Formats: sequence, C-alpha cells, structure tokens
Amino acid sequence: MDEYPKLIKDATDENNQGALRAFSHTRDVEGRHSELYKKAMNDMLAERLSKYYVCQVCRYISEDNLPENCPVCGSVKAKFKLVK
Ligand SMILES: [Fe+2]
Repeated sequence: MDEYPKLIKDATDENNQGALRAFSHTRDVEGRHSELYKKAMNDMLAERLSKYYVCQVCRYISEDNLPENCPVCGSVKAKFKLVK
C-alpha cells in the first residue's frame, strides 16, 4: 500500500481520471481487506462465523451487513455477492 500515494499523485498530475479512480478504489479495498484478514484470524480462534458480501465491481468486502451502496465505488446492493 506504500505505492498508492505516488500512483495517485502521478494520475492526478497527468489528469488521468480512470487511473486516479482505479488506484483510489484499489487502495481503499486493500485497506479493508487487511482489516478483515486480521479480524478473521481472531474470529477463527473464537470459532465465530461471519457472512461476507463482496462488491462485484471493486471487490470491497462488507462483513455481516449488506450495504445499500458500496462505500468505495457506490454500486447498489444488487452488485454484492454473499460469500460464507
Ligand atoms: Fe464496490
């Protein structure tokens, strides 16, 4: 994740809106994945099961809650897929 600030700055400097959106979304989604990975390790030790809803557009993951809209890309909840 250390490379995203430079990639985002370069995309901004080049006025490349597609690259800017892709790098920003990927940075946000990777941050969320890192959080969930740590939590999943603790849940596994506690034998707690969760449901995960994955945005099929940007791969953001919501735990135990199907959001109305993806907080990263804004997709509607119909774009989420349940993963158990
Ligand atoms: Fe999304």
